[in-house]
Amino acid sequence: MEQIVVLITGCSSGIGLSLAVRLASDPAKTYKVYATMRNLAKKERLLDCVKGLHKDTLEILQMDVTDQQSILDARHRVTENRMDILVCNAGVGLMGPLEAQALDTMRQILEVNVLGTISTIQAFLPGMKARGHGRILVTGSLGGLQGLPFNEVYCASKFAVEGVCESLAVLLQHFNIHVSLVECGPVNTDFLDNLQTAKPGEAALQRVDEHTRSLYHTYLKHCGMVFQNAAQDTDDVVKIFLEAIQSASPAFRYYSSDALLPLTSPKISAPDGLQYIRTMSKIIFSTNEKEEQK
Ligand SMILES: NC(=O)c1ccc[n+]([C@@H]2O[C@H](COP(=O)([O-])OP(=O)(O)OC[C@H]3O[C@@H](n4cnc5c(N)ncnc54)[C@H](OP(=O)(O)O)[C@@H]3O)[C@@H](O)[C@H]2O)c1
Repeated sequence: MEQIVVLITGCSSGIGLSLAVRLASDPAKTYKVYATMRNLAKKERLLDCVKGLHKDTLEILQMDVTDQQSILDARHRVTENRMDILVCNAGVGLMGPLEAQALDTMRQILEVNVLGTISTIQAFLPGMKARGHGRILVTGSLGGLQGLPFNEVYCASKFAVEGVCESLAVLLQHFNIHVSLVECGPVNTDFLDNLQTAKPGEAALQRVDEHTRSLYHTYLKHCGMVFQNAAQDTDDVVKIFLEAIQSASPAFRYYSSDALLPLTSPKISAPDGLQYIRTMSKIIFSTNEKEEQK
């Protein structure tokens, strides 16, 4: 049987790397995986995981999602001349008070997360449409479903990705192309290390008012706790990707964990939006209030 051709972006680490390894290790060699990364100097980690055993199921390609030519070059190197499953996974975070963010940094986040996802889809969509078949999977985020303080630009980017995917999904039904988002909560990856963040003592942060800095400090503690107590392993997320990939009629949204749904429900149950805002503020900043009351 013909192998299912899959291309994944952002495979130097984290979710992309784990998904590439899992698919390329399929005992029946069901998948031919094109694991792409913007910097091939980082390929050793992926190669270490597969230990050179996947010559007929894995190929590593350079691809920077912000560089159109590099996307086209990667597409050109897909020898099967078709893409069955495209996984748009590459993404970067940005954290800190909005006033402390430099325009160039914000632009870079939007370029990778939004335009990078769109450009990748654009490159492979005509082929999928022509064949009347294909799957597009996108790594979404809780930050694309609800606003999170000090993550305004990241959330803006991930909300935008939701809009792109939902809009496309409506159209692509007519081409037998399924679009699915895998919404992730905190996952143990290099994401926090790679995240651009305003660090205490940084000049830009010092220019921000004291109340905001104090709330940011509380948020960082909350964030640290959430990652410590609730972060999933990439294997958990990969399982959800597999469910979407193997389903005959995939859902539009998958959630990496059942714990994510209750967090999004106030947005649906109270459409004026205030319940979500109050609940989230309480969850995140209650530590600060308790400290202030002492
Ligand atoms: N970890 C979490 O808690 C979490 C939660 C929700 C959603 N997500 C989403 O999950 C996805 C994967 O992140 P992760 O958690 O696996 O973090 P990660 O380990 O930092 O992986 C991110 C990947 O994206 C790549 N990337 C960044 N900019 C790129 C570009 N211009 N072109 C191509 N690749 C680029 C990175 O490559 P380099 O190594 O070269 O930087 C890396 O391979 C992201 O879309 C993220 O928003 C993560």
